[in-house]
Amino acid sequence: MNVLFLSPHYPAEMQQYTRGLAEVGARVFGVGDTPAAHLPPSVKYHLSDYLQVPRILDEDDVIRRVHNWVRGREIDRVLANWEVLVMTAARLRERFGVPGMSVDTVRGFRDKQLMKERVKAAGLRVPKSRRVRTADEAREAAEEIGYPLILKPIAGAGSADTYRVDDDQELSQVLAAMGHVQEASCEEFIEGEEFTFDTVCVDGEPVYMNVAQYLPPPLIARSQESVSPIIITVRDLSQPKLAGGIELGKNVLKALNMGDGFTHMEWFLTSKGEAVFGEIGCRPGGAHLVDQMNYTNDVDLFREWARASCWKDCRASPKRKYNTAIIFKRAKGQGRITAHEGVREFMARYGDHVVENTLLPVGAHRRNWKQTLVSDGFIILRHPDWEVTRQMAQAAAEGITLYAQ
Ligand SMILES: Nc1ncnc2c1ncn2[C@@H]1O[C@H](COP(=O)(O)OP(=O)(O)OP(=O)(O)O)[C@@H](O)[C@H]1O
Ligand SMILES: [Mg+2]
Repeated sequence: MNVLFLSPHYPAEMQQYTRGLAEVGARVFGVGDTPAAHLPPSVKYHLSDYLQVPRILDEDDVIRRVHNWVRGREIDRVLANWEVLVMTAARLRERFGVPGMSVDTVRGFRDKQLMKERVKAAGLRVPKSRRVRTADEAREAAEEIGYPLILKPIAGAGSADTYRVDDDQELSQVLAAMGHVQEASCEEFIEGEEFTFDTVCVDGEPVYMNVAQYLPPPLIARSQESVSPIIITVRDLSQPKLAGGIELGKNVLKALNMGDGFTHMEWFLTSKGEAVFGEIGCRPGGAHLVDQMNYTNDVDLFREWARASCWKDCRASPKRKYNTAIIFKRAKGQGRITAHEGVREFMARYGDHVVENTLLPVGAHRRNWKQTLVSDGFIILRHPDWEVTRQMAQAAAEGITLYAQ
């Protein structure tokens, strides 16, 4: 089994997938833009060969270089778990005649408007939406859809350039701020709780499944610095509250013709109990969601993803033992961390349930909270009871403060 894996070392969790591939018996051929000499030894150890390209995001160039490089070698899979490379992987698969999702299928996971059209065509509930390229088109769409609405880039990430708009005046302000965005999606605003639906699939059927809740919704968490965003995986997937979302998720996978590998979907649960589609990617969720899922089931999805992608098999235990919460912290002030408040008390009380604490130490430089959800570090904790987990997460969000100067 020869696997071409794009960017085997970056972002950091890709190193774990590289390991996973090697552990299920694949020979891993890495393609990335870091010089081979600079790859971490742990990555090199799992690679059979490596091609350095000058610009990993330059699709045409990568395809040309990889084509020359693999000549004469048999390639069985071309895989990528980083959102910006899933299309490059699909184009390489088509070029080499390797099994896996086609360019057209992957487009359904990358283009937010096309995605919603395909999901809607399958009779599933999506927010009303229109693709807009100019301010006039946005105003027309607003008229048709009505307020409140959401304006966001067609290929956005991390809630960047994503705005809730409540009236004409706000629309004008937002349009002025979005001038640099080429193509946007104008959507009906869905009021509700926000969840994920995550899977590892074989032929579009989940062999591993997860639901997590965002507290508060990402749009709020990503725009207000004082918030400590919380994400909690839900242990009990059989509860009636989630049934509609899980059903929706499975049907979305069919509508988009999912193949093998990770998916990460976001959906809304309205106060009336309706599950509404948000968006989906054919890659894992970011910000340590895979670690959270691993802690939830005590499994290794880095490896089980590899097994599913190479051998259409999965040995992850479906038994969910914990609700697993991650709490991201943002320091007050700029510059370097000067003090931690409340950590000792928190650990004394809840430390038995904490599985990771990566809060930046005193003296470290703050990270840019707009660029990374990980912000100034996080705590991961877990407990079999949902309400206890939520309360502990809330205690970390409210009771722990980092200061910077
Ligand atoms: N139609 C909608 N109704 C209500 N809220 C929405 C809507 N679309 C987007 N949002 C809010 O904006 C956030 C970001 O939107 P979306 O998930 O589509 O973009 P993204 O930037 O790709 O997100 P991610 O942070 O997952 O990369 C959502 O999580 C949600 O909180
Ligand atoms: Mg999103």
